[in-house]
Amino acid sequence: MTVEISVDLANIHLSVPIIAASGTYGYGDEYQPLLGHQAWGAIITKAVSLKPLIGNPPPRIWETPCGLLNSIGLQNIGIERFIKEKCPIYKSLNIPVIVNFFGFSIEEYGEMAKLLDSIEVIKAVEVNISCPNKKETGMIFGHDPKLTFQVTAAVKENTNLPVIVKLTPNVTDIKNIAIAAKDGGADILSLVNTVSGMAIDIESGLPRLGGITGGLSGPAIKPIALKMVWDVAEVVDIPIIGIGGIKEGPDAIEFFMAGASAVQIGTAIFSDPTSPLKIKDYIVEFLKRKKMKSINEIIGITHQKLKEKMERINR
Ligand SMILES: Cc1cc2nc3c(=O)[nH]c(=O)nc-3n(C[C@H](O)[C@H](O)[C@H](O)COP(=O)(O)O)c2cc1C
Repeated sequence: MTVEISVDLANIHLSVPIIAASGTYGYGDEYQPLLGHQAWGAIITKAVSLKPLIGNPPPRIWETPCGLLNSIGLQNIGIERFIKEKCPIYKSLNIPVIVNFFGFSIEEYGEMAKLLDSIEVIKAVEVNISCPNKKETGMIFGHDPKLTFQVTAAVKENTNLPVIVKLTPNVTDIKNIAIAAKDGGADILSLVNTVSGMAIDIESGLPRLGGITGGLSGPAIKPIALKMVWDVAEVVDIPIIGIGGIKEGPDAIEFFMAGASAVQIGTAIFSDPTSPLKIKDYIVEFLKRKKMKSINEIIGITHQKLKEKMERINR
């Protein structure tokens, strides 16, 4: 029995519903000799900005029980070098390349979208809104529904590529932010980015990270991310990509059941670069065991199952 695990999200065809998460797979070229990319349905690049950034001082990584704190500080080579040095490599890859980017003002987001729009090898953009609005209030764009709407609309106005808006979990009500991104024109939502955190060296009394605070990723954040995917799936009808702490096959299945149409894997590939292959095999075996023909049969199924259960109870 063959099972269908490919998905189509807003014109992006993913032969496998598993994507390399931004910042954990470099620009895509570094891992090629190791994995050959065959594990992925698409890869997402490290975040790129208008100007190169040197990032935060070291240490930039601190391991925690079940997770990883990072404070890279958005280090990147800038859009000019990215286009010149990295984009030519993508011509030889047979999978979609999605570019993650950010800006420090609404205008910068629009400008970045325009620059990336003309590059043939890029199949979609992922808009990182976990970044401060330096031109105005300093507020993180993704913390505010109005700014989220404005950034998304500025990107949409400047590109014909599918637009994925990547949400931050560090908000009171992610549903409002998701609705704002959708209203701004997002084709797809991806969630979540890292959860704010810190660690202190009790001997020196100083923060462990050079950037003082950082973002937590890995299995520790999975229940938080899963609940956010669950919540967002209840309020928007555009595709969702689930991210956060996915390490093994069952983790990915949970995200599909909560409403994700694809998943991203980040921290897990640091300890096992073959984890996406194992997750893919697990998904296929799971669907076969359940006598299902397609991944579509499990996407959002928990919402339906719960509804049926409640109806039975209330009958
Ligand atoms: C070292 C590191 C760097 C990251 N850099 C970026 C980035 O440049 N842009 C972005 O949107 N997310 C970035 N992220 C967040 C991941 O893409 C992902 O959303 C997060 O790690 C949760 O997934 P995970 O638990 O599978 O790692 C980074 C995460 C890590 C661990």
